[in-house]
Amino acid sequence: MTDRTAHPKLDRQFVDRWSPRAFDGSALSASERDSLFEAARWAPSAFNVQPWRMLYAERGDANWDRFVQLLVPANQVWAQHASLLMFFVSETMSRGKPSHSHSYDTGAAWMSLALQAEKLGLRAHGMTGVDFDAAKAALGVPDDFRIEAAAAIGRQADAAILPEGYRANETPSDRKPLSEIAFAGYFPE
Ligand SMILES: Cc1cc2nc3c(=O)[nH]c(=O)nc-3n(C[C@H](O)[C@H](O)[C@H](O)COP(=O)(O)O)c2cc1C
Repeated sequence: MTDRTAHPKLDRQFVDRWSPRAFDGSALSASERDSLFEAARWAPSAFNVQPWRMLYAERGDANWDRFVQLLVPANQVWAQHASLLMFFVSETMSRGKPSHSHSYDTGAAWMSLALQAEKLGLRAHGMTGVDFDAAKAALGVPDDFRIEAAAAIGRQADAAILPEGYRANETPSDRKPLSEIAFAGYFPE
């Protein structure tokens, strides 16, 4: 397993969060579910426009199978065992003009939700392995909104429940060093 070492002053929440695929399928309480949404609600956004919308299905409800079918088959395999499936959608217009930051703002909302999931002892796994055209129609998303990504949320289960081809990847990943992503003053040559 990757040793997620990090700067000693970094809060562990940032390195302890990760994206497993093995979920136990147990139901979330309404309180857990709503606290996830609430975390997303408090994300910052340009002009406080809050362009994110969250469409969700809870495992076993009337929308669940339709949501699962909108994922690519490789994601369906494991995400069907999550407790909550979500699509993050963003409004592309802001104050009468195309928004520069609708995706960025909605990404902040997703990350807030993912960190709140960890606080609750849950895991959140983002997905762009989505049939976006089918999802737009099946979810009734208007033309001035963009489906950014999906997410599967639930309680982590043992990797042994995954099909064999998925088990080896069921481990936290590493990151690029700071020297490759943070630059003083100018974009590097
Ligand atoms: C926007 C987004 C889309 C992703 N799409 C998929 C996906 O379709 N299928 C999948 O298995 N993982 C997907 N992931 C998970 C990433 O592969 C994972 O976050 C990345 O490898 C870093 O690992 P970690 O989240 O465990 O730290 C996605 C993550 C994000 C944030």
